[in-house]
Formats: sequence, structure tokens, C-alpha cells
Amino acid sequence: KILILDFGSQTTQLIARRIREQKVYSEIHPYNLPLEKIKTLKPSGIVLSGGPASVYDEDAPISDPGIFELDIPVLGICYGAQLMMQQLGGRVEKAEKREFGKAELSIEYTGGIFAGMETPPIHYQVWMSHGDRIEELAPGFEATASSPHSPYAALRHREKPLVAVQFHPEVAHTLIGTDVLRNFIFGICGCTPSWTMHSFIDTTVEEIRRKVGDDRVICALSGGVDSSVTAALVHRAIGDQLTCIYVNNGLMRTGESESVLRFFRQKTSLKVIDVDATDYFLDQLKGVADPEEKRKRIGYGFIKIFEEEAKKLGEVKYLAQGTLYPDVIESVEFRGKAPIKSHHNVGGLPERMQLDLIEPLRELFKDEVRELGLELGLPEEAIYRQPFPGPGLGIRIMGEVTAERLNILRQADVIVLDEFKKEGWYRKVWQSFAVLLPIQTVGVMGDGRTYEHVIAIRCVDSKDAMTADWSRVDYDLLGRISNRIINEVRGVNRVVYDISSKPPSTIEWE
Ligand code: XMP
Repeated sequence: KILILDFGSQTTQLIARRIREQKVYSEIHPYNLPLEKIKTLKPSGIVLSGGPASVYDEDAPISDPGIFELDIPVLGICYGAQLMMQQLGGRVEKAEKREFGKAELSIEYTGGIFAGMETPPIHYQVWMSHGDRIEELAPGFEATASSPHSPYAALRHREKPLVAVQFHPEVAHTLIGTDVLRNFIFGICGCTPSWTMHSFIDTTVEEIRRKVGDDRVICALSGGVDSSVTAALVHRAIGDQLTCIYVNNGLMRTGESESVLRFFRQKTSLKVIDVDATDYFLDQLKGVADPEEKRKRIGYGFIKIFEEEAKKLGEVKYLAQGTLYPDVIESVEFRGKAPIKSHHNVGGLPERMQLDLIEPLRELFKDEVRELGLELGLPEEAIYRQPFPGPGLGIRIMGEVTAERLNILRQADVIVLDEFKKEGWYRKVWQSFAVLLPIQTVGVMGDGRTYEHVIAIRCVDSKDAMTADWSRVDYDLLGRISNRIINEVRGVNRVVYDISSKPPSTIEWE
């Protein structure tokens, strides 16, 4: 297995994912994991992640320099590379020119992590994101590649299995990223590709059984892929000890969750209870326009209702949730840096929650979850459902959420879904949905002036929700959607298309 020491980078999870895509198990630990613990884990290799700090800061996060003496291969990435240099006697300073985005890499040594690649005139596109720069190599090291602003863009130790890169091999914009990681894990660490979804199920089922023992678990079934797969996986582990609770928060898309509920009831032996809490949620959201406040109230409401239901069931100890990597990563606070959004599954949990959490998908990305779902026997229709946020339509209505606004958004949303499905676009894009704006604009219908709502269509392409680009969908499709919404939905006289990417925007509007 490969051990990743996390220094707080937004892309640490991607490193793990890229390695697992190569069927090599990898796990993430905090940067200060004690040396003794590292030894007992017996990793085949260690990756030091990037991070937002500077190695010369007084409170810079540092790992035990003893890891360089273990004779275990180490790959330092960005901050990890700088830390390796600093701890072994090199020098890192603030760069005169910061380097963000694409850069051209010139390889000088075509072995090690660059095996199979070529020296100039061939250049390779890599992705950089750093404000500090390695100014002096530690003894025993040599540069293996450079970029216009980084003479030491990649390094290796002449005798020890220590390598480092200033660029980020884990992101898609580094076109040779996969090759670099493959060369490290297979060539340098000598791993074999034997970790699969099948083995993930085995170990996770085992873990859940061990943790749960004879206790009972409830699961928050929402109808989405994540919670469906969670339920199926936990059910596989402990069978009847699991009860699923479906809370209708009144913020669901029309007809969506019903179809999944039907599936579980008809095709599996899973126990499902459903609770209609529409009135409660609408009441909680009355007069609330702030997005974070809405997210927190909806998140809190969920937990509260689960607890109430759990109590009715008698002795229940655990709550299983379909929290994924992206949900976790953006809520992580690093040294006081604000989280981007309080994700529904993580933010707003009451302090004294009476249920312990089981989150078997916590380390997986969406496409891994889909693969897992198919492996568990869930139907394709449930697996290829587009992601839908926990707070539901509540964060797709800008401003206050009311029954009337929900009604408008639902009608528009159904039209969007319907047209996307009809044309086969539904599965081609990551998400496609409608957003109701809190403004009114002037229009003309018949001979009369109108002053009504605006619907925005949001549609993005993405691999994992970490980054996304607006989808270049067919103009005619957009035209048909616009026509239908304006004609069929009372109270809407304008439709616009969102052409922002993530970052700097996010997929959802709130
Ligand atoms: P953003 O808007 O942060 O969304 O770019 C990234 C992905 O996450 C979904 N999303 C959520 N999922 N609970 C969830 O389970 C949430 O609170 C939540 N907020 C956003 C969003 O639909 C997109 O796929």
C-alpha cells in the first residue's frame, strides 16, 4: 500500500484516487503521523502531499524527517518536495514569480518517475501552483526536470529512493501525471495492481461488521446514488440490523426519490421507513435567505428527524451516511481558512448527536461509488442518477424558500430533466438542473407587459465535482427547454444559461 501524508492540499484526495485507479491501495494520514506508526503500516511507498503553508514558517506542518531514512521510497509533491529539500539540507524561499496553472516541463533525466518520456525538444504540460521555490538542492540530489520558473521542477536522490516534483501529477491538467505516478508506484515502489472494488467490498464489509457488532444501524436513504450504495453496502454487511429512513424534506425533485424507494421495497429485503416532514422543513426555512443558514437548518433538521425516528425504533447506535470525498474535503478547515460551503452531510451536525456515524464511502469519489454500486447489484437507473445535493431544491431557490417558489422551480426542473433525458443528454453531463432566481424581469406576452421570475439552467461536465466546466449543450435543446418553461410554467418569463466553471464558481448556486 501507498501512504499519503496530508499537508492540507485541496488535491490530496486526488492523489489517493489516482493511485487507486491503478489498483494500488492508498490511504491518507495527517502529516504528523508518528514514525513508529508509519513503520507498523509497512507501506511500499510514501507520498508527501502539497499544502498551503510555507516550509520556512514558524508553525509550518512538518513530518518526521526519519521517514527519509526508512529505505521506503518517498515522493514529495509541491509543498512535500519543498519540505523534503528543507529537511535534508536544501533551501526554499519565496519565489519572485509565483507559478500558477499550466507550465512546460523539460525533462533532463528519463529514468525513475520519467521512465518512457523524452528530453527536449519534447516538452510536457504540467500544472503548477506554488508561491515558494526550491533555491538550493539538498546534498545527494539532482534535478531531473525544469520549467520556465522552476529550475528544480523535479528531483531525485542519486542513491536513495527519494524523488520529488514541484508540479501536481494528480491533476488532470498534468498530462503526464498518470505516467509519473505509475512510474513511482510500480517502477520505484514495486507495487502490484491488485486492489479492486471487489476487495474494497470485502474489507469494508468486514470493517462494518467489526465496528457494529450486534448493534443496530439506521441509514439516511435519500434516493441518490450515494445513500443507495451506502444502504446496499451496509445491508450486505449486517442485513437486518439495518433500517433505512427516508425523510421527505419537501425539497426533492418531482418523482425522483419515489422511484428509488419503489426499487428498494420491491427488489430488496431492506427495511425502509418513510417520513413526510415537508411542513417542518418549510417552517424552519421561513424568512431565511442566507445560503449557509439554509444549509445548516436543513442539515440540522435531517439529523433531528433521524434521531426522533431512531428513538421510535428502540436501541439504535449508528447512523450510516453516504458522505463522499468531495463532501469532506471542502469542509476541512486548515489553520483558520474558511470552508467553502457547509456540506449537508458534514456541516450543521448538532454537537451532542446521539448517534455515531458510519461513512463507508468517505474515501471514494463519485465514479468509484458508481462502480461499487454496480458491483453490489444496484440497477443502472439508480447508479447513473445525476448527483443531487442533500439540501435539495432548498439551495436552488435563491432567497427564501416557500411552497410557491418550490412549485415554480419543480415545474421548470421537470422540463429540464425531461428534455435532457429525451435527447440522451442526461447521462452525458454530470448534472443538469434549474435554479430559481430571486429577481423579476420585464417581458411581453400577447400584448401585455409581464414582470416575472427568471429561471437559470445549470449544466456541467465533471469527473468528480471537484472541478467542472459548463456543458456545451446543443442550442436547440436549450431553445426547446426555454420555450417550454416560459410557456408551461406560470410566473416565469425568462430563462438564462449559466456559463461559469468551477472553480471559481461552484456547481450549485448556493
Ligand atoms: P458545489 O456546489 O460545491 O457542488 O460545486 C459539488 C457537488 O456536490 C453536490 N452538493 C452536495 N451534495 N450535500 C451533498 O450531498 C450537500 O450539501 C451538497 N452541496 C452540493 C452538488 O450537487 C455537486 O454535485
